[in-house]
This record gives sequence, C-alpha cells and structure tokens, in this order.
Amino acid sequence: MENIKLQDDEFRLISRLLYNRCGINLTEQKRALVVERLQKTLRAGQFPSFKAYYKHVISDTSGEALLHMVDRLSTNHTFFFRETEHYDFLRLRVFPQLLERLQKQNSRKIRIWSAGCSSGEEAYTAAMVISDFFDDDLSGWDVGILATDISVTALEKARSGLYRNNQLECIPPAYRLRYFKPSGKGTWSIAPEIQDMILFRRLNLMNESYPFKGLFHVIFCRNVMIYFDNATQQKLINRLHYYTEPNGYLFVGHSESLSQYRSMYKYIQPAIFQKI
Ligand SMILES: C[S@@+](CC[C@H](N)C(=O)[O-])C[C@H]1O[C@@H](n2cnc3c(N)ncnc32)[C@H](O)[C@@H]1O
Repeated sequence: MENIKLQDDEFRLISRLLYNRCGINLTEQKRALVVERLQKTLRAGQFPSFKAYYKHVISDTSGEALLHMVDRLSTNHTFFFRETEHYDFLRLRVFPQLLERLQKQNSRKIRIWSAGCSSGEEAYTAAMVISDFFDDDLSGWDVGILATDISVTALEKARSGLYRNNQLECIPPAYRLRYFKPSGKGTWSIAPEIQDMILFRRLNLMNESYPFKGLFHVIFCRNVMIYFDNATQQKLINRLHYYTEPNGYLFVGHSESLSQYRSMYKYIQPAIFQKI
C-alpha cells in the first residue's frame, strides 16, 4: 500500500503544533519520520490526508488525539546505565557530599527527579545505584525518585518494570542478579523494593511551572533538551534550576550543553552541573 503523502503546509502545521504543545522541534530532516510514524494512525482512523488528521487532532477536546500524536513522534530511546560516568559521579561525589550535608541538617530525605524518563531505565538505574550505595538497607531513610515523561506509552512500560533480555545487557552482572527476576518468555522484572522508590507521573516539561512541593538534590534531564530549540531550552533550564536544591546537581545528555545559556549552574564536568 502506498504511503499517504505529506505536503509542505501539512508538515508545517504538524511541526508547529508539536512545537507549541511540547517544545519539540521537528526540523526538515524529520519529515520522513513524520510520514513513517503517522501512517498507521492515518490508516486506522481512515484519514484521507495529513490535513484531515491534523484537523481531528486540534478539534479533539479530550486531548487524547494529541497525546497519541506526541507518543508516535517523540523519540523514547534509552537504556540502563546510559552515560555510566553519571552514576559513578552519583556514588563517588554526590551521595557522600549529600549525606554529610543532610547529617548537619538532621534530615534523612533524598529527592531525585528523572525528567524525561522514557520507559524508566534512567530512574531504575538511579534507584539501583542508591540501594547499592546503602548496602540495600534504606531503613530510616526517605528516598524518593520522581520520574516524569510526556509519553503515556513510555510511562506504561516504565511502570510495568518489565524488560526483555537484550535490554538488560548494559547492567553490571552483580546488579542484574540482585535486582531482576525472570518473569517468563525472555522478560525480567525489576525488584519491588527498587520499583517502590519511584513515582512515575505524566508531566509536560513545557508547562510554566510544575506541581512539586519540594526541591530535588539531583535532576536528570538527559537527551530531552536536544529536541527543543534554544529559546525553549533556556526556559526549561531556568525552571530546572528553580527546582534544584542549593548545591544540588543537574545531569544533562553528553550531546547537550548549558554553555550558551546564562545559567546559575556551575560546570563540574562534561554534562554535570551544580546549583550555586
Ligand atoms: C530520548 S528519551 C531520553 C530518556 C532518558 N532521559 C535517557 O537519557 O535515556 C527523551 C524523552 O523525552 C520525552 N519528552 C519529549 N518532550 C517532552 C516534554 N515536552 N515533556 C516531557 N517529556 C518530554 C520523550 O517522550 C522521551 O521519552
């Protein structure tokens, strides 16, 4: 069956909508991706053209159609222990420093946010690293990891805590043994005590403010900003800064940089910044 064609004005409409609602910048190079990823949706809904589909999305007051479109067009690629130096930095620098500070404040509360968590690997990796740091004994500690994403499909996968054999490849064997159990048909489930540390929520990072009561000691916002244009990135960094504890850390993806932005974060090492 031949693909439904995407006209220039239709591509402009769809990319403007995605940009306005999610900050995602669909450049001309992403044209083929739009055609490919939305074909099935157009066929299933029997839309004769992208314009007809676009009209349906903007007139659907439930927001479901837009959600579906975002799900189809966002890139959710992720894996356990991605950019592994970040987790070494957590173990060797962040946690020891944090524990010392918390002791002085007489607090035992640790808060981490995985912003743009996709299917959960980033948040679960952070949870395994914390658990390991505390020798799997977190009694007396209040550790909470918030993991948010705009994609409902990605969040569903994350909440399930189920991963296939090949998705476990980057996990050090000792962690795999401790924190995963076979759950049949080549899938593995993450340990409930690791899962219980994480709260998965849908959140659009483009919102002007976020419904959080407190600040975070560590924020991961990795490989998310890459899809936003400069103005959107700047606004997001300001918001992330607002929600970072003083002396807290922001981790970004290695292909992302804060250097071109006026920012109150101090550069520590590639892709790691500290709020001063
Ligand atoms: C490539 S994944 C990165 C996942 C993980 N942080 C990592 O580095 O492996 C990017 C994620 O950002 C999410 N995302 C894109 N735009 C977003 C927005 N406006 N608000 C929240 N999440 C968004 C996508 O749904 C996707 O799951």
